[in-house]
Parts: sequence; C-alpha cells; structure tokens
Amino acid sequence: MSDPLFDVSGRVAVVTGGMGQLGTVYATGLLERGMRVAIFDVEPGEAPEGVRALEVDVTDRSAVEMAVHAVEEKWGVPHLLVNNAALDSPPDAPAEEVGAFETYPEESFDAVMDVNVKGTFLCCQVVGGAMARAGRGSIVNVSSIYGLLSPVQDLYAFRRERGETFVKPVAYSVSKSAILNLTRYLATYWAGSGVRVNTLTLGGVYSDQPREFLDAYVERVPMRRMLDAPEALGAVVFLASDASSYVTGANIVVDGGWSAW
Ligand SMILES: NC(=O)c1ccc[n+]([C@@H]2O[C@H](COP(=O)([O-])OP(=O)(O)OC[C@H]3O[C@@H](n4cnc5c(N)ncnc54)[C@H](O)[C@@H]3O)[C@@H](O)[C@H]2O)c1
Repeated sequence: MSDPLFDVSGRVAVVTGGMGQLGTVYATGLLERGMRVAIFDVEPGEAPEGVRALEVDVTDRSAVEMAVHAVEEKWGVPHLLVNNAALDSPPDAPAEEVGAFETYPEESFDAVMDVNVKGTFLCCQVVGGAMARAGRGSIVNVSSIYGLLSPVQDLYAFRRERGETFVKPVAYSVSKSAILNLTRYLATYWAGSGVRVNTLTLGGVYSDQPREFLDAYVERVPMRRMLDAPEALGAVVFLASDASSYVTGANIVVDGGWSAW
C-alpha cells in the first residue's frame, strides 16, 4: 500500500555528488519511489540504471544553469534538490593536509570551501530560484556531525601512535557549519514562496574503516555503531514528501545519538 503522506512518485529530484557513496543511495532510493532523478557530478561515470547523470562541477554556475535547463526541458522544474556533493580529506591525503592546524594549506581550505559551501550556494541559487518561481520545492543541504561539533581528534590517535602525523583537518568542519546557516537563511528567505530548505546532518558512515578507528568511534556513539549508508535515505524521503510540509529551517540529525551526550 502506498502512503500518500510519503508519496514522491512523479516528482523530479536533483542529487549533486550523486555518484558517491551516499549520493548513489539517494539516487536509487528516490528512483525506486517513482521520482525522476538527475545526478550532477564531476565524475558521472556509470550511473545507476534509470538515473540521468550529468557532468556538472557545482562550483561552476554556468554548468549548473545548463544542467538545470536540460532537466527542466525534459521533466520540468525539480521538486527536490539534495546538495550532497562535497570534498573531505581522504585518509591518505598529503601530509600537509592532515598535519597541524597552523600549517593547513590555504589552497586546501579554498578548494573545500569552494565545493562544499559555494557549490551548495550556487545550486540553491539556480535550482532554488526556479523552485521559488514555480511556487514549490524542497532543498536538503547535507552537513555532518563535524559541522555541528568539533571532530574528536582522539579517534585518530591510533595513527599518531603508529608514528604518522594525523590531525582531522579544519576546512571540512568549517564548511559543514556554514551549511547550517545557509539553510536557515534560505528557509526564511523562501518561506513565502513554497520552497522549504532543511539541513540533513549525518554521523560517520561505515565504509570498512580501520578496526582501531571503528572501535574508538562506536565507543562514542550511544547506538554503538556507525551509520549504514541506506539509513540516510529515510530523512531525504521525508523531506521530499508532503509528510514534511511544515518543516523548514530545521536540522535533521541522523547520528545514532552522537550529539545527544
Ligand atoms: N561519508 C560520511 O561518513 C559522511 C558523514 C557525514 C556527512 N557526509 C556528507 O555526505 C555527503 C556525501 O558523502 P559521501 O561519503 O557519499 O562522499 P563521496 O566522496 O563518496 O561522494 C562525493 C561525490 O561528490 C562528487 N563531487 C566532488 N566535487 C564535486 C563538484 N565540484 N561538483 C560535483 N560533484 C562533485 C564526487 O565526484 C563524489 O561522487 C557529503 O556532503 C558529506 O560531507 C558524509
């Protein structure tokens, strides 16, 4: 039985960074629920079947405009935008990126802010603007527990004990904090235009991390485990559907209780 409260079928979704670990979950999950899904990614590659993948760098306003135009021509103005594309320093990042705060490279700071903040801002301008003109829409801006709170540097102590220099870098946290107030700003700005804007804050997603990291991480989570990627979908479906018709400017925290104590 389909529940009209959560029914998103026939609606149009844009998922940025849709080729990544979580983006794939959103794209396939929304498609399975009857949405028309377009992915904007710098590496569109082999998109899940049925999903329209467009090569878009979210930091390039004209590329975003062209892609949105292509989506609108085929399917009309999107009902949902998931601003999911982001850069984070991978575990094997160059030493200077995971070294002391005092020497964190300016270029790395700019690169992360460019994708995570400016990319989200530009997609909100272009897609959100079209939604506002259409008088409806829902935007989900993705943040992280590392944007809500500081990273716990102790989680990475095992790397330092191995003799590596490792500090979880600053730029990702700063960028993910900015998302929270971009959301609030736009929620109030577009409240009268029928466009709802919310943040989805996620805890760390399980992806075969080293045992020492997993042990230290789960120790700090009331639910004693990391997020399983498919568990991030429920909040997106909720925010895409009429079940969230009075929800705007909110921060939906999916973190297993990480921020509760
Ligand atoms: N994985 C986690 O533990 C975790 C935890 C909390 C929040 N998040 C957030 O969830 C989101 C997705 O994370 P993920 O783990 O799936 O990341 P991921 O690295 O697997 O995917 C990110 C995707 O964004 C794309 N991308 C990068 N730069 C881009 C650009 N300029 N334009 C368009 N696309 C670009 C990449 O090609 C990639 O497909 C991010 O916003 C991240 O901050 C992730």
